[in-house]
Amino acid sequence: MARLKVGVLISGRGSNLQALIDAAAAPDYPAEIALVLSNRADAAGLARAAAAGIPHRAVPHPSREAFAAAADAALRDSGVGLVALAGFMRLLDGGFVAAWRDRLVNIHPSLLPAFPGLDAQRQALAAGVKIAGCTVHFVREAVDTGPIIVQAAVPVREDDDEAALSARILAAEHRIYPLAVRLFAEGRLAVEGGRVRIAGAVPPGLALFNPAAG
Ligand code: GRF
Repeated sequence: MARLKVGVLISGRGSNLQALIDAAAAPDYPAEIALVLSNRADAAGLARAAAAGIPHRAVPHPSREAFAAAADAALRDSGVGLVALAGFMRLLDGGFVAAWRDRLVNIHPSLLPAFPGLDAQRQALAAGVKIAGCTVHFVREAVDTGPIIVQAAVPVREDDDEAALSARILAAEHRIYPLAVRLFAEGRLAVEGGRVRIAGAVPPGLALFNPAAG
């Protein structure tokens, strides 16, 4: 069966892009990264795409509308069926979000709906939560909203600073993004109202306690 073509939008480092590239290297993975677009020409993630032989380019961002038009055309020309935001740091044009509704996903470093927006890990530390995490969700127009596909929880440790917590969350991000894209590509996601139903979902079974429950 043909693999789903995924377009990835980035602005920087591209470690989540790398996780998707690595997952797609497995012959049985149901998706391939067909195109990488960055609003910044100096994004390190563009070099990751180049190293993997994936078509990639910087798309100028003179305005939200102009970026959206150029990105939309490039994505359609590449036959993309799913757009994944991976550290894409600009707000998307509402028309683009509507056009790609339920085919546009984002990853965010918190357990949404807690801590949307910038510096989610810092927000989590400031709030004093004992469990943090990350979320892959379908994108709606308001920032970091939309039906949730996959979440991972990680403990906040007593000696955590922002860097340590961010690294722990990032390791989980690199696992849930390929999982969410796989579930989408396998046609197992159904959006029902604000909720995503997953066909054949495997329940995790264990709760995460922090501090550990005696
Ligand atoms: C990640 O923490 C992601 O959740 C957030 O931006 C960061 C991007 O990191 N949206 P990278 O560019 O994928 O390394």
